Amino acid sequence: MTSRFKKPDPAWFVHDRFGMFIHWGLYAMPARHEWIRNREEISIADYQRYFDHFDPDLFDPKEWARMAKLAGMKYFVITTKHHDGFCLWPSAHTDYCIKNTPYQRDLIRATVDAFRAEGIKVGFYYSLIDWHHPEFTIDKIHPMRNNAEERAKNNQRDMRKYAKYMRDQVLELCTQYGKIDLFWFDFSYPGEDGKGSNEWESEELYAIVQELQPHALVDNRLDLPDVGDFVTPEQFQPANGLKDKDGNPVVWEACQTFSGSWGYFRDEHTWKSVDLLIRMLVDGVSKGGNLLLNVGPTARGLFDARAKERLSGMGEWMELHGRSVYGCGPAPDGLVAPPDCRYTYNAERNSLYLHIFAWPFRDIYCPGLAERIAYAQFLHDGSEVHIGEVHEASWSGMAGNASTPVAIQVPIVKPNVHVPVIEIFLK
Ligand code: GLC
Repeated sequence: MTSRFKKPDPAWFVHDRFGMFIHWGLYAMPARHEWIRNREEISIADYQRYFDHFDPDLFDPKEWARMAKLAGMKYFVITTKHHDGFCLWPSAHTDYCIKNTPYQRDLIRATVDAFRAEGIKVGFYYSLIDWHHPEFTIDKIHPMRNNAEERAKNNQRDMRKYAKYMRDQVLELCTQYGKIDLFWFDFSYPGEDGKGSNEWESEELYAIVQELQPHALVDNRLDLPDVGDFVTPEQFQPANGLKDKDGNPVVWEACQTFSGSWGYFRDEHTWKSVDLLIRMLVDGVSKGGNLLLNVGPTARGLFDARAKERLSGMGEWMELHGRSVYGCGPAPDGLVAPPDCRYTYNAERNSLYLHIFAWPFRDIYCPGLAERIAYAQFLHDGSEVHIGEVHEASWSGMAGNASTPVAIQVPIVKPNVHVPVIEIFLK
């Protein structure tokens, strides 16, 4: 069915590993989740106040791009339109877009230019769901799902017109902003009272991207079985990486929030620590995946202090440890990381990176490495790390035993970095 489509090359994506998601829109104003219209069953009329007052006067995308770059992020994905239907660019196909807000100017253009100038690749998130469009039928997740009167009007709505609207908009996104490296369509929920590829006319939509931006990677949320250059686990870290039905590893990207919301949420306080975020990034790479980490800018256009602190903390770590992330993937077959550790591996350098999540007492037993280590050092300062047999071996009766594990011997005091990494040069 989809054989007419060519597969773009995901090499840059797999290499870069770390990207920034940006969820921004009118929902930054109520500041209590980007699904607010759904959660609180808010009508278009009641939501209009945000549109009428949207004016992010402090928006400075150069500053955003600088922060992304310092954090070590190599690509970004921004919501051009989220489920509320509001478009951050001046689309010719709707009035419900930035040009009719007090701010007026094209947020997408400014952001794309700024990130590109920092050498960061460009991705567009585009919501398949649209709770504003008049032809979009009321379904089980629509804000008006419990409104009988609105439901009754479904027979006057025509999803084919909505699908055409999406094509017109994606055509704009594909033609007005230069090279787009990635598209992130969100999302399908086929079946009873839901929507999927039939309603979206996903094949036709996808064909536009293929024709106009053939190199662009596209996510797997269009509900087309054979389309999807990467898989998108959301708000969880896959236990063992991800495989296709034949057991082959697939390209994947976990998307994660700093706290429990994608859009700016003023009063949500479950913010992850820098330490945890670094471990999530590393955990993903050790299983062959990327991390797309989300920022929800405020209604005035700033990253809030909590996000800034996390980005700069990650950046500090990435500056010293990027080598264990970029161009890295899972360890060669048969090498199993010691407890509380994760391995990543760079095939080109033939280096293995041991990430130590919980600081141990002196010996880290590394099964299978005895014959393979040429040299080892801490990555943060390039200082040599001693490799030996298990310290107690001589008097525990284990000496000379073929199964004696090699131990990497670390100092008693944990180095002053969030997640220490030992770079192991393999023979
Ligand atoms: C979900 C949500 C959404 C968010 C997205 C990011 O599907 O609907 O609000 O944009 O995940 O992955």
